[in-house]
Amino acid sequence: MRKTKTLLTYLFSSLVLILLLAACSSDSTSTGDKNESGGKKDEKIVVGFSQIGAESGWRTAETESIKETLGNDSRFELKFSDAQQKQENQIKALRSFIAQKVDIIALAPVVESGWETVLQEAKDAKIPVILLDRGIDVKDESLYTSFIGSDFILEGENAAKELINLMGKDSKVNIVELQGTVGASAANDRMEGFANVIKENPNYNIIKSQSGDFTRAKGKEVMEAFLKSDGENIDAVYAHNDDMALGAIQAIEEYGLKPGEDIKVVSVDGIKAIFEAVAAGKANIIVECNPLLGPQLAQAALDLQAGKEIERWIKTEETVFVGKEAAESALPSRKY
Ligand code: AHR
Repeated sequence: MRKTKTLLTYLFSSLVLILLLAACSSDSTSTGDKNESGGKKDEKIVVGFSQIGAESGWRTAETESIKETLGNDSRFELKFSDAQQKQENQIKALRSFIAQKVDIIALAPVVESGWETVLQEAKDAKIPVILLDRGIDVKDESLYTSFIGSDFILEGENAAKELINLMGKDSKVNIVELQGTVGASAANDRMEGFANVIKENPNYNIIKSQSGDFTRAKGKEVMEAFLKSDGENIDAVYAHNDDMALGAIQAIEEYGLKPGEDIKVVSVDGIKAIFEAVAAGKANIIVECNPLLGPQLAQAALDLQAGKEIERWIKTEETVFVGKEAAESALPSRKY
């Protein structure tokens, strides 16, 4: 009798336990992480972004735009890697993104060449690659899906046209050029575009051209060397970005000349500091290059994930600002 009672108690407790477990498991299904289409509700698009570094105000603005757009959108997970200006670090970052099986790779390539092998690895892993702001030089164009960014050749052409407008086509003008990072598409194309227009006008001469690596410190250093060798002979400086132009302005002042007057300053990018310099009469022409690429990258990633075709070149909207008034009226609304 005692044995039967123990057995009944055991059976009853087991039944209660089974019922409790069943209740718990049905509970987790009802609040579970599945959406209506059966996919995981919290499934995000994982984007691995390999950034060049932080050499300029422009690049910092680009990084912020991407972190802000993708970081504040629950549909994305962003994996960010800063390459400190080194292509080898970018290649490592890409391999790590491939190993982590990200959905999309975004790459701002420091230089144009040397990408074939790693991009082939991404292609083999079926991970689409979107190039951001700078282009690459590859034979097989299928190694990347799209390029989001500016027309750097056009920027160089606009810089030259505006300089000729400002100084007059009949004036004799000696120009020194501060190039960006050697091998970067932004440097190669801005140089090419500028030269295309300048060579049409025999009164305009590029007397010196050297890399200032897109940084303020290097831009200043190279401008100091230009001033030392050619001093009073320089009429204008064309800088491939604002940071180098700001370094050049400092060098010109320290040399005892007036930037914007004695030596005209033409720059590309459009960060706030160059608008302030133009408003103060220390620089003259800004060719805008838009770094706020976060929204375009997010849209491209969503489209790709939805299986849509995206444009091969997603261009950004840009303009040119010449002179004090233009800079002053644009300054309050500048976003970077
Ligand atoms: O690739 C774009 C260029 O890179 C920007 O003009 C420059 O400021 C940056 O470092």
